[in-house]
Amino acid sequence: MQILCFIIVLCVFASSAIGAYPESTVGYEQPVYNLTANQPKDGSYEVRRYATSKWARTNVTAWSWEEASATGFKRLFAYISGDNNRQIKMDMTVPVVVGFYANPCVFCQDHFTVWFYIPEIYQASPPIPTDPSISIILMESWVEYFRIFSGFAVGDRPYKETNHLSKDMKKNGMAADIDESTMYLGSYDPPFKMFHRHNEVSMIKAKK
Ligand SMILES: *[C@@H]1O[C@H](CO)[C@@H](O)[C@H](O)[C@H]1NC(C)=O
Ligand SMILES: *[C@@H]1O[C@H](CO)[C@@H](O)[C@H](O)[C@H]1NC(C)=O
Repeated sequence: MQILCFIIVLCVFASSAIGAYPESTVGYEQPVYNLTANQPKDGSYEVRRYATSKWARTNVTAWSWEEASATGFKRLFAYISGDNNRQIKMDMTVPVVVGFYANPCVFCQDHFTVWFYIPEIYQASPPIPTDPSISIILMESWVEYFRIFSGFAVGDRPYKETNHLSKDMKKNGMAADIDESTMYLGSYDPPFKMFHRHNEVSMIKAKK
């Protein structure tokens, strides 16, 4: 089953623009954050405060997060490849983030969001996407909880990892900060990288 999933994911990715995905994302620009003072003692997750920043976001309706990720990435990749009002080609940034409901609908399509962090030099004035399904979103500085995991994020793995994150947060007395309405999967590696893959699932701190 795992191998089948893996092959499907590879095919989905290969059929999208991801052919141009960089060999290694080491050294790619990432959104700016600091670790907050209240890290869990057991190190089971990370608490990060991100700086206010702009992101390109696209909504995707799909049967699975893998399908949403491929569709969304293809759109965002066109945007950074020049499909914008200034025909600017932007460098890739990491991670590619997919947002989804923690409780997937098994027999229907779900709504997903796919996010791309705008490179620093375009943060002040991002080029406007030609594709109307992409919006530029201003995220005011926020706190987010992350669980890091290795290997391939396929199938229900992100959901399981998010459950784990919720449990660990509860164990550390952070139940009130959990917002399971939307979880995020951040991918740092191209699909063909076999080892030392870095993935993370996360939840933004619940608003009280
Ligand atoms: C991170 O910490 C530095 C030093 O305290 C501070 O200048 C910066 O604004 C912080 N950034 C965020 C995103 O909190
Ligand atoms: C994406 O979805 C959000 C939330 O439903 C909505 O507010 C926004 O207008 C949508 N954006 C586009 C470009 O359709």
